[in-house]
Amino acid sequence: MKLLRPVPGGLYVDSTVGMGGYSEAILELTDGQADIIGIDSDPEALTYSQSRLAKYGSNVRLIHNNFTEIDTVLAELGTGEVDGIVADLGLSSHQIELSGRGFSFLRNEPLDMRMDPTLEVTARDIVNETDVEGLANLIKTYGEEKWATKIARAIAKARGQRPINTSLELANIISSSIPKKFHPRFTHPATRTFQAIRIAVNNELENIKVFLYKAVPLLRPGGRIAVACFHSLEDRIVKNVFKKLAASCTCPPELPECLCDKKSCLNILTRTPLQPGIEEAMENRRSRSAKLRAGERI
Ligand SMILES: C[S@@+](CC[C@H](N)C(=O)[O-])C[C@H]1O[C@@H](n2cnc3c(N)ncnc32)[C@H](O)[C@@H]1O
Repeated sequence: MKLLRPVPGGLYVDSTVGMGGYSEAILELTDGQADIIGIDSDPEALTYSQSRLAKYGSNVRLIHNNFTEIDTVLAELGTGEVDGIVADLGLSSHQIELSGRGFSFLRNEPLDMRMDPTLEVTARDIVNETDVEGLANLIKTYGEEKWATKIARAIAKARGQRPINTSLELANIISSSIPKKFHPRFTHPATRTFQAIRIAVNNELENIKVFLYKAVPLLRPGGRIAVACFHSLEDRIVKNVFKKLAASCTCPPELPECLCDKKSCLNILTRTPLQPGIEEAMENRRSRSAKLRAGERI
């Protein structure tokens, strides 16, 4: 959070407020003197952050929305440029462990996986209705799973007998479709497929792009953006969008002079992403694969 350099009197957007941990860190670093706009697509998360952040009173405003609507949220609150924006992508531990929405392959819960319950398509719809080829592509692309085709075929076979309704049913089908000797040593064999389905349900990768292109212009010059990612697909998008926003001229090198007039609007602060130290990784399992990238508005 220090990378954001929050100052008393500053206005910050926590685009994935979740349980309110990042917002609280900003408020603590500013002696409770900053203003926070917290956004989350999961209304249940907002209930938690609301009670955690209640002590900061009107300094905190919490909004149920997708962070792809960050521009609309700020416009509706009558806010101009902000001093900093953070995003902590992915799921909260609460969503995985307690939401009852089938995010975990270790629990027997309805196969839902929507972070925002107003979304129309659930994991159950995708698993039971996508054709085998589409399913294999999705698992390969969003899960980087080399067993994607075998898994997709096993899912199609199982649902041919009866619909797949729960997370544990799906996890078992995936596990038994991969030969035991090829099961990963340190992760559950369903990890990648669950990630893929969740990304598809919530349109996660496209949302990150839309968000970043909207967020950076909302920063005042000198304002900072910091984004924490938990898998390589997310990190690649953040890296590439930051690069594009940082680029000045985008004309082909063979042109004798610049015709695009494009100006750089972001100074990248993290050439390589920051990763947690050993201590933090030991304390917080989820932080192990975290990568943080930050930039400053020019
Ligand atoms: C990793 S958690 C954030 C945890 C938070 N930093 C904290 O300290 O408690 C990610 C949160 O982002 C939310 N989220 C994910 N994608 C979102 C999106 N596109 N728009 C808004 N919120 C989103 C999730 O619902 C979840 O609550």
